[in-house]
Amino acid sequence: MLEVRNLMVFFENALAINDLSLQVHAGEIVGLIGSNSAGKTTLMNALSGLIIDMRIKEKRRGGERITLYGNIIFNGEDITATKPSERVKKGIVLCRERHPVFPESSVVENLKIAGYLKKRQQIRESIESVFDIFPALGKLKSRKAGFLSGGEQQMLTIGMALVVRPKLLLLDEPLLGLSPMMQQVVMEAIVELKQNSGITVLLSEQFARPVLPVIDRGYVVENGMLSLSGSGQELMANPEIKSAYFGI
Ligand SMILES: Nc1ncnc2c1ncn2[C@@H]1O[C@H](COP(=O)(O)OP(=O)(O)O)[C@@H](O)[C@H]1O
Ligand SMILES: [Mg+2]
Repeated sequence: MLEVRNLMVFFENALAINDLSLQVHAGEIVGLIGSNSAGKTTLMNALSGLIIDMRIKEKRRGGERITLYGNIIFNGEDITATKPSERVKKGIVLCRERHPVFPESSVVENLKIAGYLKKRQQIRESIESVFDIFPALGKLKSRKAGFLSGGEQQMLTIGMALVVRPKLLLLDEPLLGLSPMMQQVVMEAIVELKQNSGITVLLSEQFARPVLPVIDRGYVVENGMLSLSGSGQELMANPEIKSAYFGI
């Protein structure tokens, strides 16, 4: 479904993504594991196309030069130069790192806001489908988002991306800032997502422990380069991963 070929991203002269290639097949949950500043967000921005907007803005400001080499192929089509809005229409939706919810609005209202570009009937159907995927969120639909727990808020954030009906959902560090218990809530939601929808997921994380048991395959990224890849099980059994992420 998604293929990244020899991607390189430079911020001025600093290399943030270095000759990175990976694939995501339809129906998979693929993890991208890497520590702080490994390049996870840069990759997500390249995949969603946001980096194209960043590049244009920086150029206008006379700021740093952002350069991108390599190719991003989605369902057989080269989308490397495709605008983010066009990528959304093709089904690539990014749930950004630390994406906030509207705390004074209810769960349903937040979901409506996320679908504001769609027709009313479509929004209603999309919201119903989000509640089918995340029944726990359905139970909280009238609650103000500000009163949800951290894990529930993150589930809502993912729900807001689901309203747009992605084929490929990109989740950038969905566990960031959550307690281990809340991380579990979110990972369970991601399992439900897999079971209750046909959506393909690429998620980035620094925390390998809650993520590896859930993903089909994973890639480990260090300094913008892939260092390891394999099934979730293989990665869990890997001695380097054990010492770096599990402290054993
Ligand atoms: N807008 C930017 N300008 C310059 N350097 C950046 C910018 N965004 C990210 N970087 C650099 O690129 C590298 C990867 O960052 P990032 O993709 O945010 O990593 P992660 O999301 O894995 O923490 C880091 O060295 C970071 O300093
Ligand atoms: Mg990041």
